[in-house]
Amino acid sequence: MNKPKRYTITSALPYTNGPIHIGHLAGVYVPADIYARFLRLTGNDVVFIGGSDEHGVPITIKAKNEGVSPQDVVDKYHAIIKKSFEEFGISFDNYSRTSAKIHHETASEFFKTLYDKGEFIEETSAQLYDEEANQFLADRFVTGTCPKCGNEEAYGDQCEKCGTSLNATDLINPKSAITGNVPTLKETKHWYLPLDRHEDFLKEWILEGHKKDWKPNVYGQVKSWIDDGLRPRAVTRDLDWGIPVPVEGGEGKVLYVWFDAPIGYISSTKEWAAREGKDWEPYWKSEDTKLVHFIGKDNIVFHCIIFPVMLKREGSFILPDNVPANEFLNLEGNKLSTSKNWAVWLPDYLLEFPNQQDVLRYALTANAPETKDNDFTWKDFQARNNNELVAIFGNFINRVVVLTNKYYEGVVPNLNACSQIDEETLAAVKAYPDVIASSIERYRFREAQQELMNLARLGNKYLADEEPWKVIKVDEARTQTIMYVALQIASALATLSEPFLPFTSNKLKNILNVSSSDSTQENCIENSWNDISSKEVLLPSGHKIGQAELLFSKIEDDTIQFQLDKLEASKKSNEAANKKVDPQKDTITFEDFTKLDIRVGTILEAEKMPKAKKLLVLKVDTGIDVRTIVSGIAESFTPEEIVGKRVTVLVNLAPRELRGVVSQGMILMTENAEGKLVFVNPDDANVENGLHIS
Ligand code: MF3
Ligand code: ZN
Repeated sequence: MNKPKRYTITSALPYTNGPIHIGHLAGVYVPADIYARFLRLTGNDVVFIGGSDEHGVPITIKAKNEGVSPQDVVDKYHAIIKKSFEEFGISFDNYSRTSAKIHHETASEFFKTLYDKGEFIEETSAQLYDEEANQFLADRFVTGTCPKCGNEEAYGDQCEKCGTSLNATDLINPKSAITGNVPTLKETKHWYLPLDRHEDFLKEWILEGHKKDWKPNVYGQVKSWIDDGLRPRAVTRDLDWGIPVPVEGGEGKVLYVWFDAPIGYISSTKEWAAREGKDWEPYWKSEDTKLVHFIGKDNIVFHCIIFPVMLKREGSFILPDNVPANEFLNLEGNKLSTSKNWAVWLPDYLLEFPNQQDVLRYALTANAPETKDNDFTWKDFQARNNNELVAIFGNFINRVVVLTNKYYEGVVPNLNACSQIDEETLAAVKAYPDVIASSIERYRFREAQQELMNLARLGNKYLADEEPWKVIKVDEARTQTIMYVALQIASALATLSEPFLPFTSNKLKNILNVSSSDSTQENCIENSWNDISSKEVLLPSGHKIGQAELLFSKIEDDTIQFQLDKLEASKKSNEAANKKVDPQKDTITFEDFTKLDIRVGTILEAEKMPKAKKLLVLKVDTGIDVRTIVSGIAESFTPEEIVGKRVTVLVNLAPRELRGVVSQGMILMTENAEGKLVFVNPDDANVENGLHIS
């Protein structure tokens, strides 16, 4: 086991423009929480930092859309996000927000320090501007085509498809996200961080220094950006929401959100230290502190290039030891999307699955997008719960606790003569802490959790093979040994599950009557992570345990169907919202309307117009007469299929000659969603309301 260390663990500060969903949890918060809990359990000095990212364009856009102020938006979502993290058991030591005073001060001071050291370039240049909205267009206020990968929905500061960081003027065909207008150019002054000057530092620090220990996906992205050559990056914006630029000439401008937000990790640490009576500085400035940033892949450039350059040039800070960024999680095969409501929202989950936080934690870790994008499906969630948590972990614990109560009134029996299987089983248990730790230390949380489950499997198999429920009838002493061994496994599970399944771990500790974070009585038994391998006995003979309590319960099909139906409903409402209906034409008078003579008729004959792809020549019985009508429907119908069809006909349209044939009227048609012409017949399922009759 490694020597205890000081750790500063950060998790990306979520934008307060919506609640947390499973993508955030799987990508950032669950792995970060496993890591932090594990390090605390193994005796390290840990600060685990979180907070809300309350500046930036996403907040302003949300406020505009809802007709409220940005402050209203951040207050609302900060409260929702903070509460749901707490209920979900994300064990932040501090959860702050970037609108906090301490953060404004810290970020301003950081900017001034770099400014005074001459680390910025000051430059006036032409920037994208929306004349109608009276607004410079940066970041998410502008979209356009990414010059690197061709993605047509790249933002003014970043392409989320290929991860490239952009300047707004790099976009091809830029379009204002506010009005949809094509931007003009207007001169404005900004401060730039000349990343190009720091290429050598980045090459040495990352490309040489972290080739082996950073995840290949992170290292690879960073390398390709550095190899492409870095450019100066504006760190200020012409916006009115954010931290005012604290230097001369900065009036009316604010810090770029990606300049201030990562400094939020530092201000949140300061807030924590002040509350706990600690000194924040060693957590950010001492070389023996390990700084680890948990983020999603779209945040890599900011945490591996821009923020480290800021920290380095400021001069007194340490650099991250690792940035274990995850890829993305999809939901039922589609990209998660806040605006399309294609997500599983944490507050909803907490309401709909009360006391089942660990099930979601487990399913997300089992499917964590650690090396590639991954998919969350409700069926998999159900299977993970029913086939693994209930059938393996829960089943094992339940048998051990029920049998101990039944045979020994809850008292741990004696260990009598051991068989080879017993010896091997007890030895195998002792190996688990190191095996799991080694995976966690390499940020392989899926693998670590699989190992934890293997320990439960070991327990399950041991009981199934040794069959104490049969042995009890013939051999008292042997039964005692079997139950003793099984109880040691249960106790190891109670401790080792804590980082992954904290609620279950607590429940199990309470059942086993060992010390837990919410014990009501003082317990003398306390098993730390390292104790599992080093202690001779985890639950001694004579120790009394409590009654059985179900750790997990089966999730039924209708519960899953309810969730699938919810997703189906949001898909439907998106389709409805995306449908474009022609705007209504100018009003006509009743007299105008009565001029139209529309009759019901029947098509008697139909044939193709020679040499015309689109035209059919029809003979139509209008009730008045049988007349010829030339109709442009040959691409949608064959002549055979329309003979005998009843149709609506405008009979008093002025006759018109088409390719030598006089057409006397018009058949009313419309076009369905697939672009096929259909007759106007409201009973026809293909004719939807709102279609234009022409
Ligand atoms: N708000 C950003 C996002 O959701 C993450 C900010 S991380 C920090 O993508 F470093 F800026 F804090
Ligand atoms: Zn791109």
